[in-house]
Amino acid sequence: MTKLATNISLVEHLFMDIWFNIPKELSEVILQAAAEIPYFDKSFNPDIRTTDPRFGDFQANGVLSWGKNVGQNPRQVAQKLMETVEQLGILDPTLVGYEIAGPGFINFQLTTKFLLSWLKRYRKEDDLKTAAGDIYRGKRIVVDFSSPNSSKQMHVGHIRSIVIGEAICRLLTFCGAYVIRDNHIGDWGTQYGILMMAIKRFDYNLKAPHKNPLNDFETLYREGNALVEKDQKVGEKAREELVKLQNGDLDSLSLWKEINKISLQALQEIYDLLDIHFDETLGESYYRDQLNRVYQELIETGIAEESQGALVVFHREHSRYKTQPFIIRKSDGASLYSTTDLATILYRHEHFQADEINYVVDSRQSDHFEQLFLTVRKWFFAKGIPLPKLKHISFGTILGEDRKAIKTRSGEQIKLKDLLNEAVHRAFNIVCKKKNPDLTNEEYKDISHVVGIGAVRYADLMQNRTSDYVFSWDKLLSFEGNTAPYLLYAVARIYSIFRRAKLQPGSNENNASEFETETEIALAQKLIQFVTVLEQTVNDLRPHFLCTYLYELSGLFSAFYNADKVLISNQKIRSRRLLLCARTLTVLETGLHLLGLNTLAKM
Ligand code: ARG
Repeated sequence: MTKLATNISLVEHLFMDIWFNIPKELSEVILQAAAEIPYFDKSFNPDIRTTDPRFGDFQANGVLSWGKNVGQNPRQVAQKLMETVEQLGILDPTLVGYEIAGPGFINFQLTTKFLLSWLKRYRKEDDLKTAAGDIYRGKRIVVDFSSPNSSKQMHVGHIRSIVIGEAICRLLTFCGAYVIRDNHIGDWGTQYGILMMAIKRFDYNLKAPHKNPLNDFETLYREGNALVEKDQKVGEKAREELVKLQNGDLDSLSLWKEINKISLQALQEIYDLLDIHFDETLGESYYRDQLNRVYQELIETGIAEESQGALVVFHREHSRYKTQPFIIRKSDGASLYSTTDLATILYRHEHFQADEINYVVDSRQSDHFEQLFLTVRKWFFAKGIPLPKLKHISFGTILGEDRKAIKTRSGEQIKLKDLLNEAVHRAFNIVCKKKNPDLTNEEYKDISHVVGIGAVRYADLMQNRTSDYVFSWDKLLSFEGNTAPYLLYAVARIYSIFRRAKLQPGSNENNASEFETETEIALAQKLIQFVTVLEQTVNDLRPHFLCTYLYELSGLFSAFYNADKVLISNQKIRSRRLLLCARTLTVLETGLHLLGLNTLAKM
């Protein structure tokens, strides 16, 4: 073997071993040392966190609290741990340095050699994805999102479940989960009685082409409802329609199917605009044959009981739900939202073998989900089947500038489709102003779409999802601050650096020397934190953690780019700076893709 070949394989070997998930690996190193020290027990958790860069990159916080609890001096415990680590030779000092600090913290500092090796090892979105795949490997997760009620238009508020849900699906998939996107359409509610009665009464021709059928359905429903309120006989007609439908009358079913088909087609326009693809669109109606099974099993197991003619579940151990029942069958025999949701969980267990079900739904439904989950826990326990992890991924309300739920000037709901089209239109006006002479009109159109839709999505995701937020066109389309235009522009700018250098991102890196300047090191450290931020984001299913990180990363990139000239003649320095540019690009694009945004090479 020639000398060169040996070197290459050694280098490759080194990179294979470069830790991806650094806190996790550091934690294992410490636990390995703890296992050698007699006074450690299972209660010890090193609790490694990212820390203020002044102290290092990561900090073990767990020694302090554990030492105090068991009556040992935490600083001495930390010292003993690190002596053992050294004796065992399980932490390469050329890669990770450490320091015992304060009353018993251990601060770890990644060396510039580590930083460079890591960045050479994890180059592309796929490298990151492969490595991140351990976090959720093998888990089967249903994400129930969007899930609007059919025969109605989606309004602004509906965007939250869609964009948060899609980001969560992408994040979980990236981390190795098998994700099932399920659009649980509300297509089996009491609204159909009135709507079907109105369609017949006003002779609405479903077969004829209509410009905005969902708008028509809403009008029909409203007018139908007004009649019902005025005239008892009409009310009876509407109830009859509902009973016929629920009893499987063929004519009713075919009318109902037609309404749903038209509704789904109309909803699809929005999913297309947002590039959303569901694996399943089963809807509430899909479970209608399973509802009797739900009643029967919940009665047999003693979980449900009759109360004033209705079938209900009380949770006596709960302060509120001991008196506030979870109603699963009304006294007139009709099923409810709760009943279909119960049947749905059983199906997701039996059919999808779901390990976890995430419901991306408005926080106003938190009582419903709490009661649902409590009921299912008892039900599955009684059946002796494993309980999937059930999570309500709740979110707040979108507010207008007046801090009230957002409305049009005349006080109506803003239609989601109108909002998205307006976003693209506004983005066009803004992007065109930049007057980039390289761009054709067609390109401007594509760019406006990416920027406009991306801006609306990002403005939603960058907020802690449980908070309400104020919708502001000026803010979300601004090129300054934590916005999509700012981040997309950062991406396009890095592409343009490579265009000017006539290089592909990721090329000409072999000569890279170790980082030296403060700005290089700060950027490299931030890039590596991607993994920790990703983990935090999926653990909490809160995309804003990732948004904040991407924004800060762009800031550090700008600082680096302003301070350190990239295209200089010194090949070693040029190489490492090109590498930093390329990796920032990878991490920014990966992050934005995870959030559901497309990125642009030019804008
Ligand atoms: N259709 C419901 C609504 O618009 C949301 C459904 C959420 N999913 C669920 N399985 N409950 O409020």
